[in-house]
Amino acid sequence: MQVVVKRDKPERVAADVLAVFLRQEKSLTPKSVVAQLDVRLEGRIRDYLDSGDFSGALNSTALMRTGGTIQAPRVLLVGLGKAEAFTLEALRQASATAATAARRLGVSSVAFLPPPGDIAPGEVGQALTEGALLGLYTLKKYKTAPENGDKDHLRELHIVATGSTTQRALESGVQRGQILAEAVNMARDLSNSPGNEVNPSYLAQQAQEIAAKTALRCHVLDVDGMREHQMGCLLGVAQGSNQPPAFIILEHAPQGAQEKPIVLVGKGLTFDSGGISIKPAANMEDMKMDMSGGAAVLGIMQALAQLGYPRRVVGLVPASENLPSGNAVKPGDILRAMSGKTVEVINTDAEGRLILADALAYAVQEFKPACIVDLATLTGAVVVALGSHATGMMGTDKAMMDRLRTAGDYSAERVWELPLFEEYSKQIKSDFTDIKNVGSGREAGSIVGGAFLKEFVGDTPWVHLDIAGTAWTRENRPYIPKGATGVGIRLLVKALEDMVEGTAQPTSTATT
Ligand code: BES
Ligand code: MN
Ligand code: ZN
Repeated sequence: MQVVVKRDKPERVAADVLAVFLRQEKSLTPKSVVAQLDVRLEGRIRDYLDSGDFSGALNSTALMRTGGTIQAPRVLLVGLGKAEAFTLEALRQASATAATAARRLGVSSVAFLPPPGDIAPGEVGQALTEGALLGLYTLKKYKTAPENGDKDHLRELHIVATGSTTQRALESGVQRGQILAEAVNMARDLSNSPGNEVNPSYLAQQAQEIAAKTALRCHVLDVDGMREHQMGCLLGVAQGSNQPPAFIILEHAPQGAQEKPIVLVGKGLTFDSGGISIKPAANMEDMKMDMSGGAAVLGIMQALAQLGYPRRVVGLVPASENLPSGNAVKPGDILRAMSGKTVEVINTDAEGRLILADALAYAVQEFKPACIVDLATLTGAVVVALGSHATGMMGTDKAMMDRLRTAGDYSAERVWELPLFEEYSKQIKSDFTDIKNVGSGREAGSIVGGAFLKEFVGDTPWVHLDIAGTAWTRENRPYIPKGATGVGIRLLVKALEDMVEGTAQPTSTATT
């Protein structure tokens, strides 16, 4: 899908559909671009508003034929909701609504007339592009015939620059939106694709391909490399599977920057059966998405490289399957992590924290990072606590957590902090080893996961994001079709960018 900015008079736009974004207001602002367009349209828009056929509520639509009054044969009215709720998030949603409506019509081109408002044109361009490209996402590669009624011919999206809007700002926003949406959709592809295709080697190959097309450096440790580094926890989880694990290292070092990097760690568990502590059959197929943290890290690294991010960032993805077999790790087994800590495996289904333990220790030892952020589908408990509308956040770096909160509101990938009080660490005391991999009862499951990870970061400032609830959705949302959401990429890119600017100062925040 091509997104281009074109300067044009709305009545002269040559697209199959002209989408006009409108707030929930009774009347058109006199002399506004839309009011002028409506003169050409002989009051058709006015008519829809007066009759109440179009309310302007967020994501509401009305389609009209233009009968030769303007160049485009159709106008699609798209609601942005109440004026006071006009945010980037409303724009993303409405954009997705417009793009998917155009796709349903079977047309090949659609033009967007951006709404006037206080939001900077760059951000408008970015939000419209993100909303459209994310909303149009589908995974088609496993369908051998088009779906019934599938008439997807949409190839072009024009964003119309009118009047005083600076085309350059709009264009740079569109380009940023494209980079981010492509990264998110790549991550969605990885998470939606099944475990028999996306295994650890596939993830490693994907990382190599990203490095080949950007300035990123990629290095992958195989089993021998993991043994050399004494990654006993990752090897322990992987030993039950015939698929070899992979430890992916992607580095973004602009102009060979030698500063301490920010290290991102993503859980790359390509299928989580639970292992010997096997999961119930119901919905087990969803556990192909247990590598969503790893996919997000790949997407973030790709986006940072393409955006020319000025700081040094390293992405680490420990990748493995978790399967039961004659070789599998068993409850009671003791593993030795790269840091030297010994871990008693009580439940083989708490495998994410084991593979992350070695990745965190590797980050600390090899990179002496300025800060570590990990993303992991770590606990079912976070789904119970926060559902699918907020990512669970824990950590030791207050400044980074504040940045993530701000970036979460901005990107509508919101985070919610859970406490990591020292008392919680008592739950992972073991009779035989330094720590065990689950708590004693069912209390505070997500925090106990965080407390376990904390054992491996030393005094490196660190934040843990538990995305088990936000990485997947069972319902279609305006720009998030059901399945993998690709969460974490827009969030982290925004937070990292705010770090460069010093303080995080969002121009607008999501409230929906
Ligand atoms: N991958 C799961 C967590 C998960 C649950 C992700 C639901 C996405 C949706 C993780 O490896 C796991 O199994 N965690 C256990 C931990 C428990 C054994 C302490 C869980 O949450 O049940
Ligand atoms: Mn598990
Ligand atoms: Zn898991």
